[in-house]
Amino acid sequence: MRNAYISGSGAYVPPRVVTNNDLVNEYGLDTSDEWIQKRTGIKERRYAAVGVGPAELAVVASEQAIEAAGIDKSDIDMIIFATLSPEYAFPGSGVLLAEKLGLCDGTGATFVPALDIRNQCSGFVYGLTVAKGLIASGGAEHVLLVGGEKHSSGLDFTTRGRAVASLFGDGAGAVVVSATDEDRGIRAHKLGSDGRYAEMLCQQVWDCRRSHFFNLDENGNGVVPPDEMYTTMDGRKVFRHAVERMTEALMGVCMESGITGTDIDLFLFHQANMRINEYLANMMGIPPEKLVHNIDKYGNTTAATIPLLIAEAERDGRLKPGMKVAMIAFGSGFTWGAAIADW
Ligand SMILES: CC(C)(COP(=O)(O)OP(=O)(O)OC[C@H]1O[C@@H](n2cnc3c(N)ncnc32)[C@H](O)[C@@H]1OP(=O)(O)O)[C@@H](O)C(=O)NCCC(=O)NCCS
Repeated sequence: MRNAYISGSGAYVPPRVVTNNDLVNEYGLDTSDEWIQKRTGIKERRYAAVGVGPAELAVVASEQAIEAAGIDKSDIDMIIFATLSPEYAFPGSGVLLAEKLGLCDGTGATFVPALDIRNQCSGFVYGLTVAKGLIASGGAEHVLLVGGEKHSSGLDFTTRGRAVASLFGDGAGAVVVSATDEDRGIRAHKLGSDGRYAEMLCQQVWDCRRSHFFNLDENGNGVVPPDEMYTTMDGRKVFRHAVERMTEALMGVCMESGITGTDIDLFLFHQANMRINEYLANMMGIPPEKLVHNIDKYGNTTAATIPLLIAEAERDGRLKPGMKVAMIAFGSGFTWGAAIADW
């Protein structure tokens, strides 16, 4: 039986730490450390330098994951890159990562196929499902699955944007998903979406329904008003839907696997807001020792939150082979997903 399992993981966050107080003092954001910590659990986040994009952030994470998987980069059959903050509207970040990993150079070039996934905070769980399908069909032995984001260049640091600006941070996590004949790996998944709420958490800077994808001034130059340049979000509604859909997805995937929550050793929740995750944990009766978090130090890194959790939990020994693990995410779209893996 051909299964797909996570054979290696890696994490990279840029070195620059931005605390809540830095948002106030350096960026002039009309907020406070107390407000952000109380409403979200975030203490600090990382911001990447100007000139750095998600593909570059993903290089170190990918190299670590490849090394941990015990393979060579030339063994990668496919790159799947999940991001909502790509360098370009097109092409995607996956091809840029392939080039940066040296997969297009010289005699060792593999010209590996690269697929970008646009499922925002659920991108990693969606990507895992695609990787599992590729491996199960015999189409790949090793898939490099990345979640990488650079939010810091898209934040509105005025009072208008403070609810969003206080949440997001930069970083990248990567895993290698590999084929195995062992009785382990990704067992079940449950994905969903509800496009009725597409505009509830959205960035509308590029809209091809218009005569030009940007509004134009009288000289034909693009004009981008703030509500199109920056993410718009109805925080309260996102919060409510996140709790409902993540609960539903987790219960659904448990039912499909014939298990209950108590059979799960470790829960990797998307890191959008500590309160969302506490709410979910309370409702499902999940004890704190079965949860790992990174929202306090990285904020919401969207597609990168779960692979960052995986890499750090593997590194500190909290995530070990033999464990039953649940991964659950919710994000813009709305999209959501849950997966169960025997590590
Ligand atoms: C964004 C979020 C923290 C806001 O918390 P909230 O309790 O819902 O707050 P509200 O949006 O109702 O705003 C309450 C007040 O706080 C203010 N506020 C918003 N952000 C603030 C900030 N960073 N600092 C200080 N005040 C802030 C609002 O302007 C509002 O002020 P008003 O009452 O004078 O109008 C919360 O809604 C949330 O986390 N939602 C989920 C968002 C999310 O996870 N998105 C990603 C999904 S993947």
